[in-house]
Amino acid sequence: MYVRSLKLKNYRNYDKLHIHFDKGTTILYGDNAQGKTNVLESVYLAVTTKSHRGSKDKEIIQFGENEAHVRLKVVKHDVEHRIDMHLRGLKSKGIAVDGIPIKRSSELLGICNVVFFSPEDLSLIKDSPSDRRRFMNMELCQLDKIYCSDYVNYNNVLNQRNSLLKQIYFRPDLNDTLDIWDEQLIDHGRRLIKSRREFVEMMNDIMRDIHLRLSGGKENVRIDYVMNTTEEGFADELRAKRDKDLKYQTTQVGPHRDDLAFFINDIDVKSYGSQGQQRTTALSLKLSEIRLVREMMRENPILLLDDVMSELDSNRREYLLDSIKDIQTIVTCTGYDDFINRRMKIDNIYRVENGAIMAK
Ligand SMILES: Nc1ncnc2c1ncn2[C@@H]1O[C@H](COP(=O)(O)OP(=O)(O)OP(=O)(O)O)[C@@H](O)[C@H]1O
Ligand SMILES: [Mg+2]
Repeated sequence: MYVRSLKLKNYRNYDKLHIHFDKGTTILYGDNAQGKTNVLESVYLAVTTKSHRGSKDKEIIQFGENEAHVRLKVVKHDVEHRIDMHLRGLKSKGIAVDGIPIKRSSELLGICNVVFFSPEDLSLIKDSPSDRRRFMNMELCQLDKIYCSDYVNYNNVLNQRNSLLKQIYFRPDLNDTLDIWDEQLIDHGRRLIKSRREFVEMMNDIMRDIHLRLSGGKENVRIDYVMNTTEEGFADELRAKRDKDLKYQTTQVGPHRDDLAFFINDIDVKSYGSQGQQRTTALSLKLSEIRLVREMMRENPILLLDDVMSELDSNRREYLLDSIKDIQTIVTCTGYDDFINRRMKIDNIYRVENGAIMAK
């Protein structure tokens, strides 16, 4: 799959932008704070409805404006689709696919798949559990619409339950209503756990192979799904912890507290791995994400590479470039020397300056 074109209006520091992409590699280079990442963000947003940096719609709309527009044309399995997104600040965004408005953002998922790779991803292994959950959720949501709706529902129910726990402190008579929320929480939660278990299993097979090559045959990597509770045990544990939940006014059991752990040759990478090992593990994880999408969708995802080349040593850089040869890649960098004089074919080089893009 690939992006054919992108149009922006009042998007961050772009008044207007219209850019076409070829199927191979496009380089966007320029000084800091010129708008390189903003382009990648807009592509990611149009495909997933979310900013990769977790920004709110109103932060994306250009200063002093009330609305922003994104139009993305993508091709998947040889069929072109047009995604229109209309950001309206505090109101929810309007989305249309091929000119037809969609009601729920989950309807957008599956039109196309992107993998975003930024320098922050290289610290995923040592970041907080919530970052690793976010990685897992974003990926699973793109691959599986049912997961996505369970995930949205689970979070809604969780928020309702947590605010009820706070209310019960003042109104103990509401205690009985907890059962209704618990039932729904368990229902959605169990399905999340099952999907995550299967996801980690698939990622393990792929990642073992990639990491072994990346480490020159020396390192066996493994991902463990660190479950806060199991599918079978969730209901009982939730009941057992109810008194504590009421005391602390928050839900303490459930997949919202899950995590991932990474091991190299059976040693925990987060606690004992070198910085290099942590970064290599994160790189293998990202490359595994690409391969998993390819296996499940029977087509390569679109890769958005935000300034990562300068963060990698030459071996890892070489490996990355080799792995993405037949994938549409949009790359940002401050200088493009890393890319020229390589076997890699570059279709377009653009210079980004103060919210404008020029062909080199
Ligand atoms: N809502 C907004 N309205 C107008 N300008 C914005 C908005 N949000 C961010 N910007 C501007 O966008 C610019 C940052 O863009 P971006 O993050 O794409 O830079 P970059 O080229 O990737 O830089 P770097 O190389 O440092 O990563 C800044 O100048 C910032 O002030
Ligand atoms: Mg940037």
